[in-house]
Amino acid sequence: MTRVLTYGTFDLFHHGHVRLLERLAALGDELYVGCSTDAFNALKGKKTALPYRHRVEVLEACRHVTHVFPEECWEQKRDDVQRFDIDVFGMGSDWKGEFDFLGDLCKVVYLPRTRNVSTTEIKDMVYDLQHELRLVKG
Ligand code: CTP
Repeated sequence: MTRVLTYGTFDLFHHGHVRLLERLAALGDELYVGCSTDAFNALKGKKTALPYRHRVEVLEACRHVTHVFPEECWEQKRDDVQRFDIDVFGMGSDWKGEFDFLGDLCKVVYLPRTRNVSTTEIKDMVYDLQHELRLVKG
């Protein structure tokens, strides 16, 4: 049994998220996902459109995901790798090098991000669209 682990906020779940989870799931038999809690995001200075429970609900509905649990701090990763008996730790390439310190416990991989999509871009697009609609309405 090969177990894969990843972390993220996964706000406004999009096809970049799906493709990353699909490629990570293909590296093993089970995919574990640590979803950043609202309190942890606040600590990182990140404000989400969707609350933690809804982001978890969407992740749990994704067929590539086996188990979702809370990511509450930066320091929990070594414990998580050990308690879930993880073989492969994987993140998108924007995190390249950041988690190499887990290399003594499991294999660490960084997969290329899907181009031209991110939660930030979606938020910006919605903001621009709202602005355009206001201009049309007058
Ligand atoms: N990811 C990806 N391709 C994208 C966007 C995200 O592979 N186009 C990956 C990230 O590298 C990360 C995971 O999805 O490993 C969760 O990323 P997250 O930060 O939640 O998504 P983003 O869309 O990058 O959000 P933001 O714009 O808020 O940074």
